[in-house]
Amino acid sequence: MKRSRINDILREGDAFIRSFGYTLPPFAYLSPETLKTSDHTEIKARRMGWDITDYGKEAFDDMGLFLFTTRNGLNADLGKKSAMLYAEKIMISRDHQLSPMHRHDIKVEDIINRGGGVLVIELFMADADGGIDRDSEVSVMVDGTMRSLPAGGHLKLNPGESVTLFPNNWHAFWGEKGDVLIGEVSTVNDDLTDNIFEHPIGRFSNVEEDEEPLRLLVSDYDTHL
Ligand SMILES: [Fe+2]
Repeated sequence: MKRSRINDILREGDAFIRSFGYTLPPFAYLSPETLKTSDHTEIKARRMGWDITDYGKEAFDDMGLFLFTTRNGLNADLGKKSAMLYAEKIMISRDHQLSPMHRHDIKVEDIINRGGGVLVIELFMADADGGIDRDSEVSVMVDGTMRSLPAGGHLKLNPGESVTLFPNNWHAFWGEKGDVLIGEVSTVNDDLTDNIFEHPIGRFSNVEEDEEPLRLLVSDYDTHL
């Protein structure tokens, strides 16, 4: 994806988020130069910040996701008694923009429709080997109430509704009837190691530098910070 497109998506996403009265933390608006020269140790280590992905497929409108990680613990702290063992993200799934089928080994996540359109989540249970079980009924908690769906069923979340997904829940999602502002509250998030996709796919965009980055993406930190 061209950097100019990423910069455009970043501006559009920021405006969409603000339209719901949600404000990102101040570090979101640091220029790459300012971030570089400020104390970014924890921001880099926790991979907090902007994340715009087309999953390496170069078709962002069809398959992609806008994310901003506002807080995140560290995998190394898992199991400690007193540590940040949680993460929070704000995301945007555009109308009919797919986030492809995947699950996590460690992360338990609540996916929350914070506003906009309808968030559709396709669900399967994992089989004994962690693969997709295409037969078994899916049982998930929606705002404290258990809900059952057939394998591959589509759970539709309206604004305000949320679902809790465990490592044995395969899930893919997209917006319908408009773009959706999505919240995520989860266990520690490690996008380098804890995403298992149904099909071989990248987690981050391949960036073609055709203009200067407006903001650094989390996937830029290793090369730019
Ligand atoms: Fe997920």
